[in-house]
Amino acid sequence: MALPIVDTEYLKEIDRARRHLRALIAYKNCAPIMLRLAWHDAGTYDARTKTGGPNGSIRNEEEHTHGANAGLKIALDFCEEVKSKCPKITYADLYQLAGVVAVEVTGGPTVDFVPGRKDSKISPKEGRLPDANEGPPHLRDVFYRMGLSDKDIVALSGGHTLGRAHPERSGFDGPWTEEPLKFDNSYFVELLKGDSDGLLKLPSDKALVHDPEFRPYVELYAKDEEAFFRDYAISHKKLSELGFTPR
Ligand code: HEM
Repeated sequence: MALPIVDTEYLKEIDRARRHLRALIAYKNCAPIMLRLAWHDAGTYDARTKTGGPNGSIRNEEEHTHGANAGLKIALDFCEEVKSKCPKITYADLYQLAGVVAVEVTGGPTVDFVPGRKDSKISPKEGRLPDANEGPPHLRDVFYRMGLSDKDIVALSGGHTLGRAHPERSGFDGPWTEEPLKFDNSYFVELLKGDSDGLLKLPSDKALVHDPEFRPYVELYAKDEEAFFRDYAISHKKLSELGFTPR
């Protein structure tokens, strides 16, 4: 599909989709899985070959059935409800808009959204998203491949302030924070506290506390929510625009 033409019509459609997404997310309490969908569409980006990225390809069956995407069909179907009311918007824009709205309506920072992403039918091979059982070298391999930095890794991991793991999806269980529908800096506060009853810490979360380059950001974000919100908004925008040059 060609690049969508971002004219007044298209911008109006984006506004309408934004309103539909706000209502749907409030009604279904589905902010966490919508954010995860946006991240998993974008997080396949490979800066060297300029493949993957926020291009809507996660809607292809061959991609949403990848192990790392278990459960995301639910979010794809929610987005389809919005797509049927706002058919002009590309899937690529719709999924990234859903991620931005999910953060906003749960009390997080405003992430600047620039429309105009193109849809792709081509899905990357399985294995580009991070493995929760791995440590710092793997996280760096995956995020550096996207063209992102150590700071982006820590700030974006703060997305785990929302939602929970499901045994039938990932094999892990439970939320990271006491209020998994509120976007705040509690993920970092909990990380520094160490293991606590009922709250989850993936090996890849713990890696942030133990690595000397990552840890200063964890400490900063735990004590200064404003700093977290500022850096998160920048990193999330970068993630949502991998391989995309707004016109
Ligand atoms: C959930 C891994 C980064 C947002 C999960 C789950 C795993 C995981 C295993 C549980 C899935 C389930 O059982 O339902 C990782 C790893 C990351 C990472 C290894 C590497 C750093 C991110 C990033 C974001 C994010 C960058 C967004 C900015 C979420 C959200 C959920 C989630 C919101 C909860 C979904 C729900 O409640 O249904 N992640 N993740 N994650 N992840 Fe991540």
